[in-house]
Amino acid sequence: MSVDVLLGLQWGDEGKGKIVDVLTPGYDIIARFQGGPNAGHTLEFKGEKYVLRSVPSGIFQGEKINIIGNGAVLDPELFKAEVEALEASGRDLSKQLYISRKAHLILPTHRLLDLAGEAQKGSGKIGTTGKGIGPAYTDKISRNGLRIGDLEHNFEIKYKEAVARHEILLQQMNCEYDLAALEKEWFAGIECIKRFQRIDSEHFFNRALQNGKKVLAEGAQGAMLDIDFGSYPFVTSSNTVCASACTGLGVSPSKIGKVYGIFKAYCTRVGSGPFPTELFDDTGQKIRNLGCEYGSVTGRSRRCGWIDLVALRYAVMINGITDLIMMKSDVLDDFETIKACVAYNVNGVESKDFPFEINDSVKPVYVELSGWKTDMTKMQSENEFPEKFNAYMAFLEKTLGVNIKIVSVGPDREQTIVRYNGISHQ
Ligand code: GDP
Ligand code: IMO
Ligand code: MG
Repeated sequence: MSVDVLLGLQWGDEGKGKIVDVLTPGYDIIARFQGGPNAGHTLEFKGEKYVLRSVPSGIFQGEKINIIGNGAVLDPELFKAEVEALEASGRDLSKQLYISRKAHLILPTHRLLDLAGEAQKGSGKIGTTGKGIGPAYTDKISRNGLRIGDLEHNFEIKYKEAVARHEILLQQMNCEYDLAALEKEWFAGIECIKRFQRIDSEHFFNRALQNGKKVLAEGAQGAMLDIDFGSYPFVTSSNTVCASACTGLGVSPSKIGKVYGIFKAYCTRVGSGPFPTELFDDTGQKIRNLGCEYGSVTGRSRRCGWIDLVALRYAVMINGITDLIMMKSDVLDDFETIKACVAYNVNGVESKDFPFEINDSVKPVYVELSGWKTDMTKMQSENEFPEKFNAYMAFLEKTLGVNIKIVSVGPDREQTIVRYNGISHQ
C-alpha cells in the first residue's frame, strides 16, 4: 500500500485540517511529517470547533493511529496544552497518538531566539509565529538538536548544554527573560510526552505499508512557504513540499501514491513577504470578512487577494499533484466578477513561469470571470453547482492541468463535495 500526501499549495491555511479529517476514514494511519506548532489546523463538526497544532488531524475519526513523524518539531508545553484540551472530553490519546524518536524538540530558548531574531530584523522581519521553529530547525541542521529519543539517555545534560549555547546568543541580543519560569512549564510538557509511545517511526511506517495499511501524510504550511521553493526568505524553516513526506516519515519516493493539492478559491498570507495578488481595497476586506480570515492560533489578520495561478501552477509542478481540492469557494458566492492571475508582468515582460523571486516589480496579469452569485453552502452534490461556478473550476483545471476532486463549501465536515462526474473527468 502507499502513502498519500496532502499539501497546502499557497501560503498556508488552505483548510488542510478540515480535509484530512474528511479523508481519514479511508486511511489507517495519519502522520505529520514537518513543521510544528506554527501550524493551526481547524476542524469543525457537530457544532464543535478544534484547532490542532502538532497532533495530526486524523485524531477525531475513530481509533485511527496518528503519528508525529521524525521531520516535525515538537514543543512540549504546547503539546501538553493540546493533549489536555483534546482529552478534556474523557478520551485517552496515548492509545492513538505516537511520536517519532527522531522528531526534534523545541526548547524554551528556541522560542526566545525566534522572538529576539525577529526584533533584530526590525521592518525586515519575517513575521514568524514566534514558536521557535526557525531556531529549532537551525539546531537540527547544525547537528545541535535534541530529539525525542534523547529523553531516554542523559537528557538533563544534553538539555543544559543546548541551553548554555542559546544563552550566549540571547545575551548578545540583550534579551531579558525568566528561564526558570519557562522551564517549569516546558518540563511539565516533557512529562506529558513521556506518557506517549515513542517509536522508531520509519520502521513502523514501512512495516505498516508491507501489511497493507494506508497512510495519509498531512502537510503543514504551504508550497509558497517552503524553505527551497517558497518566497525566500519569507518562508518557514522546513520543506513543505511532497518530497518532505519521504524524509519526514522515512518512506521511499516509490511508496508515494496520490498527492492531494489543496488551495483556496482565492489567496491569503499571514506575516511579511511578497504577495503579488494582494488586495488593499474593499474587495480584499470583503474576502477577509466573509472568509473569517484571521489566524486560527494567533488571531492575526490574514492578507487577502485573488487566486494566483502562476504560483499555483508552480506548486502543482514541484509537488506532482494528482488531485486538486478547492476550499472556501462559498466565500466568493457573492461577487459579480472574480479575477484570476494568469501571468506576471515583470518590467514590461509577461511570463507564466514563477520567477526566481517575487518582488515589487512583479505585477499580476488578470483575467476576469463571472461570479456565480449563488449560496453554495448547503449544496450536497456537484449536480447543484451553478454554471458559472463550473466555468470557474473548468478554467482553473485547464490552467493547472489537474482535476479538482473535492470542493469545500463551508467550514463544517459535512460541507464537502466529492466530485464524481466533474466537467473534466472525461
Ligand atoms: P489549515 O491550516 O490549512 O488547516 O487551515 P486553517 O484551519 O488555518 O484555516 C482554514 C479556515 O477556513 C478555518 O477557519 C476553517 O474552519 C475554515 N474553512 C475550511 N474550509 C472552509 C470552506 O470551505 N469555507 C469556509 N467558509 N471556511 C472554511
Ligand atoms: P498552517 O499549517 C500560515 C508563516 C508565518 C511566517 C512564516 C515563518 O496552519 O497552514 P515560522 O513561525 O514558521 O518561522 O513563520 O511562515 N507560517 C504560516 N502561515 N499557515 C501556517 O501553517 C504557517 N506556519 C508558518 O506567518 O510568515
Ligand atoms: Mg492554519
